[in-house]
Amino acid sequence: MTDVGVVLGSLALRGPVLAASGTFGYGTEVPLLERRALGGMVSKGIFLRPRAGTAPPRIVETPSGMLNAIGLQGPGVEALIRDYAPAWAGWEFPVLVNLNGESVEEYGELAARLDGVPGVAGFEVNISCPNVDQGGMYFGNDPVAAARVTAAVRRRTRLPVWVKLTPMVTDIGVIARAVEAEGADALCAVNTFVGMSIDLRTRRPRLANRTGGLSGPAVRPLAVHLANQAAGAVRIPVVGIGGIATAEDALEFLVAGCAAVQVGTATFIDGGAIAAVHDGIAAYLEREGIASLEKLPRCLPRD
Ligand SMILES: Cc1cc2nc3c(=O)[nH]c(=O)nc-3n(C[C@H](O)[C@H](O)[C@H](O)COP(=O)(O)O)c2cc1C
Repeated sequence: MTDVGVVLGSLALRGPVLAASGTFGYGTEVPLLERRALGGMVSKGIFLRPRAGTAPPRIVETPSGMLNAIGLQGPGVEALIRDYAPAWAGWEFPVLVNLNGESVEEYGELAARLDGVPGVAGFEVNISCPNVDQGGMYFGNDPVAAARVTAAVRRRTRLPVWVKLTPMVTDIGVIARAVEAEGADALCAVNTFVGMSIDLRTRRPRLANRTGGLSGPAVRPLAVHLANQAAGAVRIPVVGIGGIATAEDALEFLVAGCAAVQVGTATFIDGGAIAAVHDGIAAYLEREGIASLEKLPRCLPRD
């Protein structure tokens, strides 16, 4: 039997496929799913305080993708601890909380508040949201700011700290190295790409926020390239994200140097997408005579 387990720092996952932040909410639908294939889940992004998010319309379908501008709507950290974490504590896969702040200090406070809460297995630090005015992508665009946010979270927890990178940079390797140097356990590459869609009837942007984050198959080759560059720049594991809908899509990221992957938009179309990706990866390894995912040959830029 092919071994598809992966070890990311101190976190051992039973499989390489996680549910991506914002596309699985806080996991309330997880009990309805076939979950054997879920390696882990990343929660919807959370701030210290409740947030209303952006005005509707917030979602637009585009060729082979979607634009979203949710603006990190959420109930705030106290509600997350009260209403969702207790259920996560009983699940057989880890749940990482997607952390967001308007300042470096807020990220640190959020990590401190969640550290030790049963059900919280680790953090994915979001320095890459394109839909918030304060914070978000600003931190992910600047290696100094990215490093400061990482350090602020690292200081306040012993749990795994993953940092989610934005694709909206000239050289993702610079940000990746800055974050690694401050003690991140893994990188997630990538968040959505900034895009815009215009309604020719009204001659106005279709999203109330004007711009949104592009996800889905349209972004996959861009994301594979960025994940490959990030993996080539650091020694810590990279989790690949962007447009994965099939096992072949996920395998491209894994061969590009990723240790695991996240699936987001595809689950809106097919509730069985994560299971299909997981099973397809195992079948590919079996077919190719590769005994475990760790033994899969990779093609890093430095090779
Ligand atoms: C509706 C929606 C909400 C999202 N919310 C978050 C979020 O709260 N935090 C975050 O880091 N990424 C968020 N993302 C980005 C996804 O986690 C993922 O990085 C991106 O969609 C690319 O992967 P995909 O093409 O498989 O969806 C969101 C994406 C979508 C479509």
